[in-house]
Amino acid sequence: MKGMDLFAKLEYVNPIGSIKDRTAYWILKRAAERGQICDKTTVIESSSGNFASALAAFTRLVGLRFIPVIDPKISSTYESFLRRLCPTVVKVEELDDTGGYLKTRLEMVHRLCARIPHPYWPNQYGNPDAAEAHYKLTAGEICAEFDSLDYVFIGVSSAGTIAGVSRRLKERYPKVRVIAVDTEGSVIFGGPPRKRHIPGIGSSIVPPLLSHATIDDVVLVPERETVQACRELLTTHGLFAGGSSGTAFAAIKRYAPRMVASKRPTVLFLCADRGAPYLDTVFDTSWATTLH
Ligand SMILES: Cc1ncc(COP(=O)(O)O)c(C=O)c1O
Repeated sequence: MKGMDLFAKLEYVNPIGSIKDRTAYWILKRAAERGQICDKTTVIESSSGNFASALAAFTRLVGLRFIPVIDPKISSTYESFLRRLCPTVVKVEELDDTGGYLKTRLEMVHRLCARIPHPYWPNQYGNPDAAEAHYKLTAGEICAEFDSLDYVFIGVSSAGTIAGVSRRLKERYPKVRVIAVDTEGSVIFGGPPRKRHIPGIGSSIVPPLLSHATIDDVVLVPERETVQACRELLTTHGLFAGGSSGTAFAAIKRYAPRMVASKRPTVLFLCADRGAPYLDTVFDTSWATTLH
């Protein structure tokens, strides 16, 4: 992009396909080290797709049961993946009072945990190990790669990524500006709730992990701009990335006039997952015309 050195960290090359591989791996590892899970454990978690997919693969690897709690907004690719790996998948259908499904999903997780013996709820929204995953792994890789960094743009949902990455980057690059990226209709940064259509970014609750993040500014992106930015990433940069990646790229375009005012900045954003699960939505022209 004009006037800046722009870098994308491609988290979709992780083994199961998204940045959430790191969260799932680290949370399970730490829980096992503390003795919070054993071979009788059933892991139960609410997810819009990526976290559940990573948990499904890694629990299978170590012989644990896993029940994902999903909602109708999940991409059909993720749903098929989960149904192939997990004998039980619970799909909630009822919208919560903010027009999203998160609260309904979390209520279902609590009900299942009360009913099923030896449950373990990773609680990606409040578990400090989720932030630690990104402090150690995601940000560790960034620090190994960059001598200096001026701006980093991070899409927010559970806030685990921004909590861990912001803390580590501020230690390493004291002047780096961390820009949180959210979608219109999400309540994370105090905006009015509205129905959202693109999974993986935004939330209908303020995630507890947000208080662990150091954030300099916030950019709210309308979903229509996410769609345009995803297509631009593909057609002009050769990156086939998902909705939150496009949202971060759109945020950079919005924010660019403020960044290029002085010296040529080094700017980084994360491509949290791949575009394939979004072919029928974000990458489908007729679907996109239904967005406001
Ligand atoms: C595609 C995608 N991007 C971004 C995020 C946001 O990461 P976090 O939940 O750590 O805020 C998620 C979380 O599920 C995601 O699936």
